[in-house]
Formats: sequence, structure tokens, C-alpha cells
Amino acid sequence: AFADSRAAGEGAPVPVAHRGASGYAPENTLAAVDKAAELGIEWVENDVQRTRDGELVVMHDTTLDRTTDAEEVFPDRAPWNVADFTADEIARLDAGSWFGEGYAGAKVPTLKQYLDRVSAHDQKLLLELKKPELYPGIEGETLKELSNEGWLDGRHVKDRLVIQSFNAESVARVHMRKPAVKTGFLGTPDTSDLRKYGRFTDQINPSHTTVSKDYVDAVHDVRGAHGKPLEVFTWTVNDAAGARAAADAGVDGIISNFPDVVRDAVAE
Ligand code: G3P
Ligand code: CA
Repeated sequence: AFADSRAAGEGAPVPVAHRGASGYAPENTLAAVDKAAELGIEWVENDVQRTRDGELVVMHDTTLDRTTDAEEVFPDRAPWNVADFTADEIARLDAGSWFGEGYAGAKVPTLKQYLDRVSAHDQKLLLELKKPELYPGIEGETLKELSNEGWLDGRHVKDRLVIQSFNAESVARVHMRKPAVKTGFLGTPDTSDLRKYGRFTDQINPSHTTVSKDYVDAVHDVRGAHGKPLEVFTWTVNDAAGARAAADAGVDGIISNFPDVVRDAVAE
């Protein structure tokens, strides 16, 4: 029921629910995916890391303490690194209470659970490999999971998935392993380097604090890995004025904790 993807530089930017609709529900939980769907937002962003026993899970911080009750459940396990806990241990945590009592019992989703929910809502996924330098091999493992869940099938692969990271080598590895998958680099490379990035990315995704019309124009002037102009998805824009400024600069997507506010602000 969602519209086709827009061409770079044309029409209103696409709103993306940052860590799900994380202004309304606890970040990176299935509740935040559900909330985005309820708001009619088709794109959700998440962060993927790996447990000690090799399960891919959805979590932003590399430690569990800010967004779960890990300190209470495992008091002797400081600093609560995601990488030091098994999937079973993480499944025992409450990832909702910190946000609000109504979300008590929300879980840290596995990537598989997360993909199932996004699919169930017919949504699209901007998947961030978070600190992949801590998780050697996570690119191949993530692609395998996506493949197992049917996310890499057929010609629609490019319409529903982008894999992004702040780590350019990691993005390049994703592109080399599965050239059909769209990728994004998180950051604001010098315009003289854009051609280099365009060999393995389709998007350049800068902090909104670094976005200008000149920069966005320069990015759009370079072709990405699939032969189309590089797109720009900027983060994290949480108010209407910021969304309008980003839209005026010509960005293609706006990543927001309040994606409905962004959508309404940039509606033409
Ligand atoms: O999608 C971009 C944005 O999520 C990057 O920053 O820290 O929220 O992962 P962060
Ligand atoms: Ca992120």
C-alpha cells in the first residue's frame, strides 16, 4: 500500500523512522516498528550488532545498560557489552520500561524477529551495521539472515532494503558480497571523494548539521553503485523547521524519531 520509491532529488523527501518511531516507543523494539506502521511510515531504520554466541540483535548502544535493565538482571557484568552476552541472556532483558511503564516487557529483538515484523507491515528497512569493526564477519552473517528471510529475492531487493554504516570498509564489503543490495555510507565525505564512495554506495547519509544545498547538489551529481545519482538521507531531524530546511537543501530522505512530524512538514 506504500508508494514507489522516488528518484533522487525529486519530490518530497521520504520520512524514515529512526530506530523505529523512537520518539513514541522504545527505540529498536518491535513496538517502535509497530508505531511507525501505525503512523503510516514505510521506512524504518535500525542498528544491528552480534551477541557472544553469534545471534544478530537490534540494539543501538554497544552496551546494554541505557535501554535495558541489564544492570539489575546482571549486576556483576559491567560494562554490559552486547558482545559479552548470549542471545538467551539478552532475551531476558526488559527493553521497554526505561522508556515508559506502558512498554514494560518489550524485548531486544533478534534481527530475524525484526525482519519478520517489518515484513508483516510491508515496510522497508534502512539497516545500520553498528560498529562492525567489533564484529568481524557481520556483513556476511547479516546478508545470510536477510537471504534466509527472503529479503534478497528478485528484483524488489532494491526497493525495500538499504544497508548502511559509518564504517566505509564494512559498506564496501556488503557491496562486494551482494552487489544487488543498496548501500549507504553514514558521514559527510569531502566532495572530492564522492566518486570513490559511489563505487560501492548508493547513498551518502550525513548528519543534518553538515547538510547544505551545495553539498546535496554535489552528491546528486555523482553516480552510485547502481548507476543512479547518489541519494542523501540525513539524520536525525526531529522538528518541522529542521525537516523543511533539509527538504529545501534537496535531501531524498529524512531520518527522524518523529517521522510523522517530518512527513507533515515536507508535504507538498
Ligand atoms: O541512520 C542514521 C543514524 O541512525 C546514525 O546515528 O547514532 O542514531 O545510529 P545513530
Ligand atoms: Ca542508527
